[in-house]
Amino acid sequence: MSQRVVYFNGQFVPESAARVSIFDSALMYGDMAFEMTRTYSQRPFRLREHLDRLYGSLRLLEIDCGLTIDQMEQITRETLERNLASETADMDWQIMHDVSRGPLSVYRTALTEGIRPTVSINCWPLITHMGGFAPNYSNGVHVVIPAQQTLPAHLVDPKAKTRSRLHYQMANLQASRQGAGRWPVLLDPDGYLAEGPGWNIFLVKNGELLTPEPRNILLGVSRATTIELARELGLAVRETNLGRYEALRADEIFCTATTYALVHARSFEGQTLGDGSPGPVFTRLVEAWKKLAGVDFVAQAQDYAQRLPAWEQAALSALGRKDAR
Ligand SMILES: Cc1ncc(COP(=O)(O)O)c(C=O)c1O
Repeated sequence: MSQRVVYFNGQFVPESAARVSIFDSALMYGDMAFEMTRTYSQRPFRLREHLDRLYGSLRLLEIDCGLTIDQMEQITRETLERNLASETADMDWQIMHDVSRGPLSVYRTALTEGIRPTVSINCWPLITHMGGFAPNYSNGVHVVIPAQQTLPAHLVDPKAKTRSRLHYQMANLQASRQGAGRWPVLLDPDGYLAEGPGWNIFLVKNGELLTPEPRNILLGVSRATTIELARELGLAVRETNLGRYEALRADEIFCTATTYALVHARSFEGQTLGDGSPGPVFTRLVEAWKKLAGVDFVAQAQDYAQRLPAWEQAALSALGRKDAR
């Protein structure tokens, strides 16, 4: 197993050597834009859409990363290419972009390279994320409304994907206090459903797909893909204001995000949806997603789940960790 490499400020370095300064604006303010893309069959899925969103986030934060979007795409592909050989050919990857303004200028005398934006791209094998996630595909998740609300667009626009995410973390903590497998959907200040800490939400009512208006939410690439696929399947889709009431009356609810594509909710606010199993509209969408991705990502996650303990042991052994068996 060769070591993973990271693109870090103009160079490819071993993952363990990529270090961000403690004086970085990301650490001081959460002042960092990021993106998360995944591969299917080792090819990045909708990379350009993710990079387009990254450059939108950077524009909002007024950060010039020093690379054009074309250069960023080319370097991203190269980073992935350089990492593929570290895993088996059936491994898919998470690709993470992190870009900050760099260290604060008040600390410039502590820095050998001077002040410049921090730009990193790392690739991580999806076996850990998807292996752990696999049971959710059959069990579903329990969606709950936490006390924590989302930030409205007029305060901090959630369309920018940034590391300023304390409100999401609080929502996670509040949901986890309600029990394992609880997923928080944050309300906006008007009491409408917004989104989860890393996912968008869909309701199905009488065969129609409903999802929150593109206002106080991150415009998920998976959300857009789901809408596209639904329309191709001839399903009606409506972006609208949705509250607790609409969710409680929904026939189906599901969540979308890059790593797992989509997962159904077994319950909403403690009330089971149907018999708790994946609904017919959700099931059609999953099949359409698999076709589009060219990968049965549910079977893949189950396979990763089987292999995960051995993979983790090998990774710990390679580090010489004492907790490796
Ligand atoms: C707050 C938030 N909403 C929605 C999403 C889903 O976006 P995507 O489908 O592009 O992964 C994410 C992804 O991380 C997110 O952080």
